[in-house]
Amino acid sequence: MSDLDVGGSEAPSTARTDAEAWWRTAVIYQIYPRSFADADGDGVGDLPGITDRLPALAELGVDAVWLSPIMVSPQRDAGYDVADYRDVDPRFGTIDDLDRLVARAHELGIRVILDLVPNHSSDQHAWFREALAAAPGSAARARYLFRDGRGRDGDLPPNNWQSVFGGPAWTRIVEADGRPGQWYLHLFDASQPDFDWTNPEVREEFLDILRFWLDRGVDGFRIDVAHGMAKADGLPDYHPPADADSMGGDEEDVPYWGQPAVHEVYRQWRALVDGYDGDRALCAEAWLPTAERTALWVREDELHQAFNFPYLMAPWDADVLRETITESLRAFGAVGAPATWVLSNHDVVRHASRLAIDFDNPQGHGIGPGTPRRPDRALGLRRARAATTVMLALPGSAYLYQGEELGLPEAIDLPDAARQDPTWFRSGGERYGRDGCRVPIPWEADAPAFGFSPTGASWLPQPADWSALARDRQRADPDSTLSLYRTLLRQRRERGLARGRFDWVDLGPDALAFRNGAVTVVANLGTAPLPLPGGRVVLASGPLEGDRLPADTAVWLEPESIG
Ligand code: GLC
Repeated sequence: MSDLDVGGSEAPSTARTDAEAWWRTAVIYQIYPRSFADADGDGVGDLPGITDRLPALAELGVDAVWLSPIMVSPQRDAGYDVADYRDVDPRFGTIDDLDRLVARAHELGIRVILDLVPNHSSDQHAWFREALAAAPGSAARARYLFRDGRGRDGDLPPNNWQSVFGGPAWTRIVEADGRPGQWYLHLFDASQPDFDWTNPEVREEFLDILRFWLDRGVDGFRIDVAHGMAKADGLPDYHPPADADSMGGDEEDVPYWGQPAVHEVYRQWRALVDGYDGDRALCAEAWLPTAERTALWVREDELHQAFNFPYLMAPWDADVLRETITESLRAFGAVGAPATWVLSNHDVVRHASRLAIDFDNPQGHGIGPGTPRRPDRALGLRRARAATTVMLALPGSAYLYQGEELGLPEAIDLPDAARQDPTWFRSGGERYGRDGCRVPIPWEADAPAFGFSPTGASWLPQPADWSALARDRQRADPDSTLSLYRTLLRQRRERGLARGRFDWVDLGPDALAFRNGAVTVVANLGTAPLPLPGGRVVLASGPLEGDRLPADTAVWLEPESIG
C-alpha cells in the first residue's frame, strides 16, 4: 500500500537544523498538578508532591512532563485563568519549589514544559482591574476586547459569539461612575477576559513572560488555545452548525479560531526561543478540523509541535484511523515537523471510556450519572490498551495524560455538588464538563486517598474501586496496563520507532496494520478474530487466541530471525 517516508533522506525534516532535536521523538507526559500528588495534605496536588513522585515517571520511561498551569490564579478554570504570569500559585507551592522540581526532573533525564495561557487572563489580573477602573477608549481597556453594546442603550452584546463553556461570550461591566457600561469578550468563562493581540503592549508582555520562565530553565511551553488570540476584523457575527464542537475542532472559518494573524505572534516567539540554548520547544493546543490546518502552526519558523486533535477525535474505526494517520504523516511531514499523537488530556473523556462510547459526545461535554448509556468498562479498557499500542508505534512524538498508564476510566458518578468545571455551571448542568477526567490519581491501594494525599483529602472524590487500579498493585503485575505502557515505551525507544520508516500493510478492512522498520503492528478493529501474519510477538495489548488476534486487540510483531 502507500509508503510514507518520514525519516528517510528525502524527508524535509532532515534538511532542518533541528533534525536531531529531542521533541521530534519525545513521549511527553501531561501532569495535571491539582490531581497528581498532594504533599501538604490539603487535597489539592502541588509541586513538592510532583517532585517526590518523579521517579515513577522515570521508571515509566517518559522524556518530558508538561505541567498544566501552575501560575497564580483564582482557579475559576483550574489555573487556565492567570492573575500573575510570573509567579507560582501558593496552592501549588513557590517558585523555589518549581526550581527544585525542574532540577530533580533534569537529574532524572526528564524535561519540563509549562502551560502558558495567552488568549486570556483572569479577571483578577492587574491589567484587567486597571481596565475596569479606566475609561472607555483608554490604553488600559485596549489591552482587552472592550466594545460598546448593540441596541438602544447598548444593552445587547456587541456580537452573537457564544462562550466555549456555554452562554454569551460577552459580559457587560458597570463603569466607575456606576452606570451600565461597555462589554468585554471572553471566549471562555466570564472570569477569563480575552486579550487584544493586535495591541503591541500585549505582544511585548508575553515575550517578556516567555523570557522570564526560559531564563529559569524550563524546556518549553504548551500554548493554551493557540488557535485563538487573533479575531477576525470587526468581530463579525458567527452562526455555527447546531452540532458544532465548541473549540472549533470540526468547523472551518470560525471568526475567533485559526485566524491568519495568529501566525505572526508565533514567528516572534520562535525567534525568541531559538535564541536560547538547550532545544526549548513550543507546542500548540490548536483545535482545528484537519491535520492540514494544524500543520500551519508548525511551519519551520513557527511552533515546534501541535497536538494532533483530529487523531484524538477519530472514532475506533479502521478506515477513519488509516486516513487520519496517513494525512497526519503527510501534512506534518510536508512542513518538516514531527507528527504528534494524543489520545487523552484534561479536556476530554478519558480514552479508556471514550472508545466505548456509542453516542455523540462532543469535546468537553463529558459524561455523568444522567448520561443515558454508560460506556462498557471492559470494552473501553481493551480498546484503550489497543489504541495506545498503536499510537506508541507511530513515528513522531506522543503525549500521555496522567492516569492513562493505569487504564483509568472517566469518573462518571461524581456528585453534582463536587463538580467544579465552569462548563457545568455555565451550561446550567446540561453538560457535565471535564471533572470526570480530572480526579486525583491512585498511587497506593491501601493508603489514604490511594496515596494521592497523606490526609486522605481529595478535591474531587475518587471512585472506591480505583484501589484495584493503584500504581502499586499494577507494578508487580506483568499483565497490568502500567506494565504494558512501560514495555511499549521501552520497546519504542530501543527500536527507534519514533524515527522509523512507516508503510501500511493490507490485512483486510478491519485490520489497522503497518510496518515501522522491522516491527509490524496489527490492530483488530472488527468483531471477529483475525489471523495473525507470521512473526514473533514483541508485545500485545491483550491475550491472543493462538495465532489469531482477538477483536479490540493490537500486537507488535517482528521477523522470527530477529532476536
Ligand atoms: C484550553 C485548556 C482548557 C481551558 C481552556 C481555557 O482548552 O486545555 O482546560 O479550559 O483552554 O483556557
